[in-house]
Amino acid sequence: VSARSPWYVANWKMNLTPSAARVWCEALRAGLDRLQEPVPELGVAPPLIALDTVRQALRGSGVVIGAQNCHAEASGAFTGEVSAEMLADAACRFVLVGHSERRHLFGENDEEVGRKAAAAVRAGIEPLICVGEKEEQREAGQTPEVLSRQLDRALEYLLDLRSADLTLAYEPVWAIGTGRVADASQIEEAHAILRGKLVEIAGEKTARTTRILYGGSVTPQNAEKLAPIEGVDGFLIGGASLDAARFLQVACPRARC
Ligand code: PGA
Repeated sequence: VSARSPWYVANWKMNLTPSAARVWCEALRAGLDRLQEPVPELGVAPPLIALDTVRQALRGSGVVIGAQNCHAEASGAFTGEVSAEMLADAACRFVLVGHSERRHLFGENDEEVGRKAAAAVRAGIEPLICVGEKEEQREAGQTPEVLSRQLDRALEYLLDLRSADLTLAYEPVWAIGTGRVADASQIEEAHAILRGKLVEIAGEKTARTTRILYGGSVTPQNAEKLAPIEGVDGFLIGGASLDAARFLQVACPRARC
């Protein structure tokens, strides 16, 4: 029996204004109220400007809120940045680190990802560490080494790995926002690589309890096929999460908002 219950996380990226966020939260609450089944574990990572709106609008719903990024330092002269401490004080329970858009559009390297993950743990929030290979790396047969290296570096700065709460997301870069979903064997293999690496660097217990989400073009239409794949503990959802009803349907196929 798996020690891990599934978790479904909405990553809005740079979408939805605070007013649109309020409407989204109201729709989600309506959908949750109508659910005929147990409420799934849900998380939402809005843009920071909508964080407080979302926090208030989802109060008491059980949905946890998080951020899409943080800085590795606790405070200082870093114009435009926000620290994990600040996020913790603003009621964030998790923060994405190493999302492929941060890595590839904003030049974040493995070391920065590791320092951000450590900063999150120090601040008492869970890092949701994203890893994934590019298409050319997959074609060159480098997927196992890319995933292993990214995970190794991401965990390098965590001092007490065995007691840290963390979540991983396997997001093949070529599947993000493209409508091209990885197939079951690719997902199963990647999750097994990550789980094996976790055992090696963090120990059996952490490896057993750490959730590994899949992300990359997840929709209500394909979620039912993806959910039973061995090693998949939920999803990180971009595009389909911008509509509250579709987001909820990824978690509960029969839900309606
Ligand atoms: P997508 O994004 O669902 O739009 O592919 C996933 C992500 O970037 O986390």
